[in-house]
Amino acid sequence: MTKIIDGKKISIEIKEEIRLEVEKIIKNGKRAPGLAVIIVGENPASKVYVNSKVKTCNALGIYSEKYILDSEISEIDLLELVEKLNNKDEIDGILVQLPLPKHIDEDKVIEAIKPNKDVDGFHPINLGKLVIGKDGFKSCTPYGIMELLKRYEIDLNGKDVVIVGRSNIVGKPLSIMLTNENATVTLCHSRTKKLSEKTLNADIVIVAIGKEKFLTKDMVKDGSIVIDVGINRNKLGKLCGDVDYENVSKKTSFITPVPGGVGPMTIGMLMKNTVKSRMEKI
Ligand code: GUN
Repeated sequence: MTKIIDGKKISIEIKEEIRLEVEKIIKNGKRAPGLAVIIVGENPASKVYVNSKVKTCNALGIYSEKYILDSEISEIDLLELVEKLNNKDEIDGILVQLPLPKHIDEDKVIEAIKPNKDVDGFHPINLGKLVIGKDGFKSCTPYGIMELLKRYEIDLNGKDVVIVGRSNIVGKPLSIMLTNENATVTLCHSRTKKLSEKTLNADIVIVAIGKEKFLTKDMVKDGSIVIDVGINRNKLGKLCGDVDYENVSKKTSFITPVPGGVGPMTIGMLMKNTVKSRMEKI
């Protein structure tokens, strides 16, 4: 029988830990941690994410500012807002929701955020720190996956891990986090040859490519651990991941469901990063 990795439950535990930490900061007469969230344009999915980030801040006692900007905003005006928030004392973390409209250079915006307020962990300084094993901000989705593995006491030492998907947000940083914990990582992508051979040999398979039922039961070995980072909608409009959960879960020892697996962890880790940023100034 496979064990289900319950990201919803773990994220509730993490949020409660953070709420208590924030309470302590305020009891000590210090100001609350503060997060600024910027959204450009009308992407409905982005709106849902941003609203839930602000709602979570409120629930945990974290101060938040939400900026909803017109999709036509110029790059210069957006960079100006980032700079204003870089210099604002009440703000410990700045998050610019991606993707941005085509006329804005995402890299430029990410690099404009002060590394010590980059709670998304996307700035090259924070990614560089991750590579050399120094303390910095870790991007929230891979950080959430690492936290799930830790809280389920899944030993990574010497384990063969295959990641499918090499994005800057998930696959690449995750490959480094796992390497830092002594796993042997194979980072696969759309040009990878004989993918099934690789996933079949893996102790842990992590899929983050955004294709419904991409990972099938013939691609995983008995007793393996499967982490599903996908968020897709199937033909019926139902939320589903990248894994053929019904069949793959018959072979695994641990598996994350969608929804309720990796997804809820991302906001929890964002809150954790925001409090970390605040604590560094106390
Ligand atoms: N878009 C999708 N995921 C993320 C995320 O973790 N952070 C930001 N800023 N944008 C996203």
